[in-house]
Amino acid sequence: MAAHPKQQVVPSRAAIPSEELIQAQAEIWCLSSAYVKSMALRCAVKLGIPDAIHRSGGAATLPGLLAALSIPEARQPHLSRLMRLLATLGIFTEAKEGGVVCYRLTPASLLLVHDAGANGGACLSEYVASATALSDSLMAYLRLDEWFRSDVSASGGGGSPAFVMAYGMDYWAAAGRDAERSASFHELMGSDSRLVAQVVLRECGGEVFGGAAAMVDVGGGDGTMARAVKTAFPHVRCSVLELPHVVEGVRAATGGGGDDDDGAVEVEFVAGDMMDHIPAADVVLLKCSQFGSGASRCDSDGTLPKTASYGSGESSPILS
Ligand SMILES: C[S@@+](CC[C@H](N)C(=O)[O-])C[C@H]1O[C@@H](n2cnc3c(N)ncnc32)[C@H](O)[C@@H]1O
Repeated sequence: MAAHPKQQVVPSRAAIPSEELIQAQAEIWCLSSAYVKSMALRCAVKLGIPDAIHRSGGAATLPGLLAALSIPEARQPHLSRLMRLLATLGIFTEAKEGGVVCYRLTPASLLLVHDAGANGGACLSEYVASATALSDSLMAYLRLDEWFRSDVSASGGGGSPAFVMAYGMDYWAAAGRDAERSASFHELMGSDSRLVAQVVLRECGGEVFGGAAAMVDVGGGDGTMARAVKTAFPHVRCSVLELPHVVEGVRAATGGGGDDDDGAVEVEFVAGDMMDHIPAADVVLLKCSQFGSGASRCDSDGTLPKTASYGSGESSPILS
């Protein structure tokens, strides 16, 4: 017998305390204008504020910043408002020091500094600039409601992602048609990988890779993560499984082998589709790759499809 849902009490506005109502209204405003936060972050990166604070020793006053950024006089009064918002978001700190307002870098803005000495080469500024641009992905998200409404029962499947509905092909196929865009995407993901590699190797490197003979980075982009593993654990045979157009791009950029500039760190590139086959390895690494592969091709629990074959069929530790 079908269970009856419990009778729901619909909250009446009159029963909600005024304070909660005003808070709820603020939350709706905040969420509806959430793009202002991304745009403020983008603006800070484009103006070079993290670099300017870093160059002045990690702390800067407003006059110091105005001078460093060469802001025209008419715009100067607005910088403090931008800095206040960014401080509220945790990008900088804002505090009075000796009677003067002083801005300092936080761990978040340290990751936006271009000086490799500050963050080990893991600068995420290019990532911010790209992710906050009016991208194809954003245009696809604008049509999410249309995607939900589109009836795909006639085609018998779960249907394609919103991106495919908007552009007629998936994100990676679109990226494959534009070599320049693909190269810059992998360059900015490389910065992210440099950061994640630092943390992964520090926190569990020995435990995961110490006894491993082979590692495959599935959807491993330009191989930044695989090279970091290889550098730290030279005994591990490191390979990268990537879509053919990505492997082609990496080979073209590195002169054939996929090694880095001085050829010191060798990682093998395998062209293929993770949905079909993953090469055998002791460790299988999935960094931002399930997202990349398109949820519609994954099983309902978000994992790779059971039809995808894996190397020798033995189980391996999976890092994702
Ligand atoms: C978000 S990027 C992550 C790249 C890299 N793992 C990183 O974190 O820097 C996702 C990657 O998965 C790759 N990819 C997408 N679908 C794939 C597939 N079916 N088989 C293999 N690689 C795929 C893309 O080319 C892209 O490089």
